[in-house]
Amino acid sequence: MAHARDAELLAAAEEVRARAYAPYSNFQVGTAILADDGKIYAGCNVENAAYPVGNCAEPSAIAAMLAGGGKRIRRVYTTGPGTMPVTPCGGCRQRIREFADPDVVIVSHGIDGEPLEQTLEQLLPHSFGPEYLGR
Ligand code: THU
Repeated sequence: MAHARDAELLAAAEEVRARAYAPYSNFQVGTAILADDGKIYAGCNVENAAYPVGNCAEPSAIAAMLAGGGKRIRRVYTTGPGTMPVTPCGGCRQRIREFADPDVVIVSHGIDGEPLEQTLEQLLPHSFGPEYLGR
């Protein structure tokens, strides 16, 4: 279901996507997070000549959230090129899991297509998280 802040999230994701460093894949991704403090934090993918050490947009946005004072993820909005929804990779689903409740919605938007909304629980069922370690 569309959210009142979706237009802002989309704009923030697109703004940061334009600054993505993706010379190898040429697949620029932007992520905007609505955090528990009501603020929007954004991050882009950052690739590297040593391919495996590049990172996705989602952890960049999570780092921006923590650096800015946000603690919990309330909504995630990711944009990328093309028509297919840019859904988070497996590792990023787990990274989001650390800071989000199961019902948090992740919007995946290939910018020339329609946004796809899925909950964290749908993307990462039966997941392992902080509570297993007493947190
Ligand atoms: N990528 C992201 O940043 N987030 C996603 O949700 C999917 C993939 C990036 C990683 C890499 O820099 C490029 O897209 C191609 O895989």
